[in-house]
Amino acid sequence: MSPDFILFSLVSALWIMLPAYLPNSAAAVLGGGRPVDGGRTFRDGKRIFGDGKTWQGLFLGILAGILIGSMEIGAREYFGLMMLPELTFPVVVILAAGALLGDLVKSFFKRRLGKERGAEWLVADQYDFVIGAFVLLLLLQYEWVVATVTPLMVLWIIIMTPLLHRVVNIIGYLTGVKDVPW
Ligand code: CTP
Ligand code: MG
Repeated sequence: MSPDFILFSLVSALWIMLPAYLPNSAAAVLGGGRPVDGGRTFRDGKRIFGDGKTWQGLFLGILAGILIGSMEIGAREYFGLMMLPELTFPVVVILAAGALLGDLVKSFFKRRLGKERGAEWLVADQYDFVIGAFVLLLLLQYEWVVATVTPLMVLWIIIMTPLLHRVVNIIGYLTGVKDVPW
């Protein structure tokens, strides 16, 4: 494997994952207001999702992912960056929505484990949005996944996701957007 190919796979992985990565940060910056569970508790007496999952975060986060993905679709075409993986509008919507749905499902299980909002849950906190995005993609855009995502890109996503998550959350913490650096 040439170094060029390895590096190119990294760029390709980041390119396709951007519409799934951005919604998380956008939700943290733009979220707030009424929680998705409306304050309700599950039968174990604990919150269904908790105050960290709001409608505003969900909608504006997904919108941010769709916007960046649409810009990528336009930029690839406009600048003739045809060597980069092709994103389509449905794929972008699924990446963005899958990411925050994965995050929501993660919070459901986090509450069942008795972890408070914002408590750290290693692995789950880092990969929830990637898993959400890929589960939805495999269900709804299987052909695109097979044609676009290579094993090396998957490996890069596994390596880069927790690193980016860490860096972005530390920035969020230092700028006061998040209460905890994870
Ligand atoms: N956020 C939101 N709506 C969402 C997702 C996130 O408003 N659907 C905002 C919340 O302000 C949340 C912040 O983004 O506190 C950071 O998101 P995350 O780390 O996923 O939530 P936590 O507060 O850590 O909650 P949990 O323990 O449930 O993961
Ligand atoms: Mg968290």
